[in-house]
Amino acid sequence: MTTTAPRHIVLIGMMGVGKSTVGKKLAATLTCSFVDLDDEIEAVASKTIPEIFASEGEHGFRLHEADALAGALSRSDPIVLATGGGVVDGPAASLLRQHCCVWLTASVQTLADRVGTGKGRPLLGDDVVGTLTTLLERRDRKYAEVATLTIAVDDQSVSAIVAQLMSQLEALC
Ligand code: S3P
Repeated sequence: MTTTAPRHIVLIGMMGVGKSTVGKKLAATLTCSFVDLDDEIEAVASKTIPEIFASEGEHGFRLHEADALAGALSRSDPIVLATGGGVVDGPAASLLRQHCCVWLTASVQTLADRVGTGKGRPLLGDDVVGTLTTLLERRDRKYAEVATLTIAVDDQSVSAIVAQLMSQLEALC
């Protein structure tokens, strides 16, 4: 018997935009499982994300991420998946097109305020605002290409974001 993976809800967007926080509340509201891609990667590799970057570089990390993405998206039960901000730069980014991708956006200042010193996020380095700006310029187009819907989260509570999502998901996903 063959089973077809359902269309999952996938949260995409930059580091610090709130994908995991929103994803957990959305999954609870929809009563489905929540999966955090970074947690899956760490569990399978038995290493933290900074350790993976240190030993295998960004390229190695993207391969782990692509495997974890393919695994999560092939689940037969519908999930809410929070991805890492760079998933659109990786080799499995095209898989996202088959699912309902919710692009959470925020200003660089909001992102910078939320990531703080960037601890645990090895790509950010010392110039957090500069790096976020450069990454966002490179990724904006890629997020837009796969996004089913886009929500600006600046100054919005998690509950308000989830309510906004719930009102649009049925029509779009
Ligand atoms: C990354 C974002 C991180 C994590 C890794 C790389 C990125 O996830 O996957 O540090 O390239 O933007 P979050 O977006 O959850 O911080």
